[in-house]
Order: sequence, then structure tokens, then C-alpha cells
Amino acid sequence: MLNELNIKISEFLNKKIIEDFGVQVNIVVEQPKNPEMGDVAIPSFVVVKAAKKPLVEITTKIKEYLEEMDLFEEINIVGPYVNSFYDKIKLSKLIIESLDFSKSSEYKGTVCIDYSSPNIAKNFSIGHLRSTIIGESLGNILEFKGYKVFRINHLGDFGTQFGKLIYAYLNWGDKEKVLKNPIEELVSLYVRFHKEAEINPSLEDEARRIFNELEEGNEYYRSLWTQFKEASLEEFNRIYKLLGVHFDEYSSEASASRDSNRVLSLLKEKNLLEIDDGATIVRIGDDMPPAIVKRSDGATLYITRDLEEIHRRYSEYHFDKMLYCVGNEQKLYFNQLKRVLNRMDVPFKDAVEHVNFGLILRDGKKMSTRTGNAVTLSDVLNESIRLALKHIDEKNPTLAQKEEIATKVGVSAIIFNDLKNYRENDYEFNLEDATRFEGQTGPYLQYTSVRIASILNQCDFDKNNIDYSFYNNNNFFDITKKLDEFSIIIDKCINELAPNYLAKYLLQLSTLFNSFYSKEKCLCEDIVERNTKLHLISLIKEVLDKGMLLLGMQLVKQM
Ligand code: ARG
Repeated sequence: MLNELNIKISEFLNKKIIEDFGVQVNIVVEQPKNPEMGDVAIPSFVVVKAAKKPLVEITTKIKEYLEEMDLFEEINIVGPYVNSFYDKIKLSKLIIESLDFSKSSEYKGTVCIDYSSPNIAKNFSIGHLRSTIIGESLGNILEFKGYKVFRINHLGDFGTQFGKLIYAYLNWGDKEKVLKNPIEELVSLYVRFHKEAEINPSLEDEARRIFNELEEGNEYYRSLWTQFKEASLEEFNRIYKLLGVHFDEYSSEASASRDSNRVLSLLKEKNLLEIDDGATIVRIGDDMPPAIVKRSDGATLYITRDLEEIHRRYSEYHFDKMLYCVGNEQKLYFNQLKRVLNRMDVPFKDAVEHVNFGLILRDGKKMSTRTGNAVTLSDVLNESIRLALKHIDEKNPTLAQKEEIATKVGVSAIIFNDLKNYRENDYEFNLEDATRFEGQTGPYLQYTSVRIASILNQCDFDKNNIDYSFYNNNNFFDITKKLDEFSIIIDKCINELAPNYLAKYLLQLSTLFNSFYSKEKCLCEDIVERNTKLHLISLIKEVLDKGMLLLGMQLVKQM
């Protein structure tokens, strides 16, 4: 609202100046550097210059125009500036009456997001967790703003390692064990392969032969590969279910590889292919290594599969943006991908965006999830849930359905702990801190929402019987301004493809509520006063809950 008001003020003043002075100007409404000086500042230089009139005449006129707008409670001329304070009551009314989250945003475009994208028969890494959390919340935020979003999970199900894995499985594998604990078993089979291949290097040839036959359609190998894939997916799906994440599509590197002749012929048609030492490459400039698109043995590479896949996605979805949520370590790679698309001069060459992110650290070192020695992702999630339960037990020992609530709190704690950081930065992981009910945590937001709900549950209110004159008090007015900021924050998250602004905003909003609640008695005797307060805190809850859902957190009714 405040943004729109600035435009309104500027338009009003421009119009008045044409009427009175016959000159066309464009006044930019500013904010005084010192908030004590006012809420808005109107610089008069442009008008003085255009109208060729004395400064005092112009500033006096601007003051008159502003008075006419009937929005301000105090207007002061300070040299070349006209500084004004909003009438808190009028402004609050305008803002509050304009808040409406139920109206749907108009269509803004189509965005595909490639996120999570783990590798099958391998651990779901901490990096994949970050990708999942960031991608999911960006998807939610974009959708909220009117974008059509397609969520794509691009599975790493291709590579010579599947030759090794099949070899290992056929020689040392145990079907029962693999079915019971697929990833752990497959990873240890893979490790065993490497150990044995050190002693007997011919195993590598065997694995390559199996991989080639798999690619050529050997049915037995293919059925094993399918089994591995399905078993891995089942395990990944447990994580997605816990996180409340869903995808519109699972794409596959293996099928992109099978179809890659399409994109390879396109590259050939455009005269972009060169043979270099037996391999097929695309040159993309002197500042970057060339992109190898086919190895000398004919195998495709990661980039070949992405090039094929993005063409398929474009023909299917006609996206305006194609976002890839992948770690910083693939920065160079995505620059190469963009360069190749540029050289191909495809219609979507500018649509690609690498939504890169940093590492999660533990004691300053990259945190990893490896079955066997270190923690697995399930361990991390379970630990978070356990800590959430511990905190609930301290605060609210008699709470019903504690486990269910602790699950939502623990999982949301991890999500929030990630999203409050700017995605490109690394951050230190501390579960004990992340699950606390106070501080910059997800549980703090959930707890604030629950607190508001418990006040609202005690008494009904009539939002048509409120008194805006309370908003003259900053305890009220500051909250209105914060509520008004919500839509600006959402735009910022979209512009920078970074949900941390929303996360930080929700913390500020919660803190404002908690300080309001400590200063104002909400359940007071006077009906109109009570209505006004309950109405305001119900708006806080609405924004807070909406914001948490956009981040991908889960709401609880009690905790
Ligand atoms: N599976 C890859 C990895 O774990 C990430 C894939 C990201 N998506 C893509 N289209 N390249 O590193």
C-alpha cells in the first residue's frame, strides 16, 4: 500500500503542477533519511527549475497540495523539501482494508523448477535437502504470486556406476537385504566393488560391459536397474512425505540420455560440434573449458542430458523461466550450459537461472550424510523431531498428540533454519538452537501463531465494530506498517529467488506481536477496544500462517 501511495502522491502532485504552472514534471517521493523528519519527503528542485519560480512559492504550493490529499497529520517545509507525517489513523485504515490474501493473483508466467534431484542408489545428501527446501518454497512463493509452476525432480539414474552396482549385486548381493534397506545396501555394494576392483582391475571392464548392455536394452540388467530405482525412490518418498514436498514430474537422466540424439543432431545442424581427441565438443569461448557432449566411446555426459532435457521441458511446458536449484559447486557447469544454449540460439536461452546455494557446515566443515560412518538424513530429521518433543515436554507436558506435533515442529525447524540464511552463503548447523521455542527459529514462529490462536479462541470479535483511532498509538501503527510490507517482501523473494527475506520478515512480525501482547491487554473489558485488538492480532496470524506455509513449514494448532 505504501508503495502504491507514493505513486499516487507523485501522480497527484504532477497533475497539480501542470494545472498551476503549466509544466510537466516527475516528482519522486522520497523517504527522509531520519524517520524523525517524517514518513515522506517531497523534493522541490525539479519543480523550481521547470516552473522558474522562487523556492518558497513552490514549497508552499506543494504543502497546500499535500493538505488537500487529506492523508497527513503534519506537513513541514524544510529548505527545499516538504516533509510529512502520515495520519496514522487514516493510513492504517487504508492498509488494513486493502489486505486480502484470498484474492488470486493474475497469471504472470510459467516457471519450471528443477530441485531435489537426488542420485538413485546413493544417499540423499544434505545438499539435496537444501535443494529440496529452497526449491519447494520458491515454488510456493511463485505460485502465490500468480506463476504457473512445474516442479521437476530430475533423478540421477544414469552412469557407469550402475554397471558396477549390477556386477556387485550379482556377485555379492542379497535381495532381501536390498529390499529392506535399499540405499544402505546398495551403497555398501558399491563400496565393495571399488575395494575388489583395486585388487582385480578387470572388474572395471566387466562393469563397463554390463553398463553398455544395460544401455542397449538388456532386459535382465534393466529389470535390476528398475528395482534399484524403485527401492531408492521409496526411500526418498519417505523424506518428501515428512517434508510435505510434492513434484509434478520425475524426470530421468537415463531417458534424457536415450533421447539425446535429438539434441546432438540439432547441435550438428547448427554447426556447433567439433571432434577433439575422439570426443565431441562444443566450444563456448576462451574463458571456459569446452563442453564435451559425447565421449570417445559414444557415452553421453551430464551436460548432454541436461541439454536434451531442457529442450523436452520447453516443448512440454513453454516455460518463461527454468530454475535449477543446485549447489554452488555446479556454478561453472551451469555457466557452460547457458553458453551452449546461447550458441544454439534457442528461444529459451535467457530463461535459465542457476539458483545456487552454499554448504551446511558442522564445526566449520562440510556436513555430509553417509550411511555407515556418519549421520544419515533420516537421523538428522529424527533428531530434530526428538528435540522438538523435548522442548514440548518442558513447556507443555500434558499436550495431546505430542508425537504428531513434534514431527511438524521438528521438520519445520529444519526448514526454517535453512531458509533464514541467504541461500548463497554457507551456514553452521546446530539442531539444538534450531529447535528452540525462542530466538530466530521456526518453532518460535509456530509458537507465536499458537499463542495468538489461544487468545482468539477465548473470545469472538466483530471486525465491523472496531475503532481506528487506536492506531494513533505506535504499538498498533507499527504492526500495520509491517503487515503492509508483506507484499513487498514477497516481490523481493521473487526478484532475488531467495526466501530468506520472507523468513526474516516473519521473525520481525512475530517479535512485534510479542511486544504488542506484553504492552496491550487484548482481552480487555471495552468491547470496541477488544474488537480492535483481536482483529489486529488475527491479521498478524493470517500473515504469519500464510508466510510459514509459503516457506514450506507446517502449521500446528497447539504446541
Ligand atoms: N543429480 C545431480 C546431483 O546430485 C543434481 C541434478 C540437478 N539438476 C540438473 N538438471 N542438472 O548433483
